Amino acid sequence: MDNRPIGVFDSGLGGLTAVKKLKEVLPGEDIVYFGDTGRVPYGGRSRETIIRYTQQDIAFLLSMDIKAIIVACGTATTNALDYVKDSCPVPIYGVADPAAKRAAEITKNKKVGLIGTEASIRSGAYERLICRYDSDIEMTGVGCPLIVPMVEEGRISRDDKILYHTVEEYLTPLKEKGVDTLIMGCTHYPIISDVIGDIMGEGVALIDPGAEAAKLMKEELAALELLNDQERQALSVYYVSDVVYEFTKTASIFLGENVDDITIRIDIEHY
Ligand code: DGL
Repeated sequence: MDNRPIGVFDSGLGGLTAVKKLKEVLPGEDIVYFGDTGRVPYGGRSRETIIRYTQQDIAFLLSMDIKAIIVACGTATTNALDYVKDSCPVPIYGVADPAAKRAAEITKNKKVGLIGTEASIRSGAYERLICRYDSDIEMTGVGCPLIVPMVEEGRISRDDKILYHTVEEYLTPLKEKGVDTLIMGCTHYPIISDVIGDIMGEGVALIDPGAEAAKLMKEELAALELLNDQERQALSVYYVSDVVYEFTKTASIFLGENVDDITIRIDIEHY
């Protein structure tokens, strides 16, 4: 048993997709979330910068005495996880491996699409991972740099025409390719999964990497005997590196609960 919280981080709002699933599959676990809203997006930055930001994000979470970490950012996972995982003193899980595994399990025509940040697509990490599960799968990746800023701006409505047309332009080559499975390889994208689903159509399965990582976390904590056995209601607290309001208004809509009073600003450069 270990009653310390689980740490989750992302460059901004995207990691809330993992938080939402964690609350469902592990309702007794406390969560400490960090969204690096002062430095989002990570996806257009160099690998060196993404590694440095990831190290600082992990250092902050460790200062909160957490028992395990989900790197709930596709970009940090694909560019920095291999570099930081050996020195991390608590179990740490990324979002790419469980998502690649799930995609390999469910594709029927072995054509898998991947959307992600430029840094994630450039890393080639998803191709390497999926190949380990099924080397016959053909993966087609598309970088979608405009989606993260739009989601961070709160443009998440299914009726938002600018969002729809932007996403449609990115997804058209994947539709033409005939993929039957689409990995939403940046954790911001499942926040607009209804828009992505409308465009791809019912026949295409959408993979949510944050949710897959949350399910993996449940299995791993059980195997390591690190689950929480406390009786009281679980607590979540959210930390951000810039103005709180910009984060809380969209986070509250996505999570379906008001997070105004449990969101705190910190100085990430301090870590
Ligand atoms: N949610 C992050 C990801 O999964 C967004 C990356 C960014 O900040 O550009 O890749």
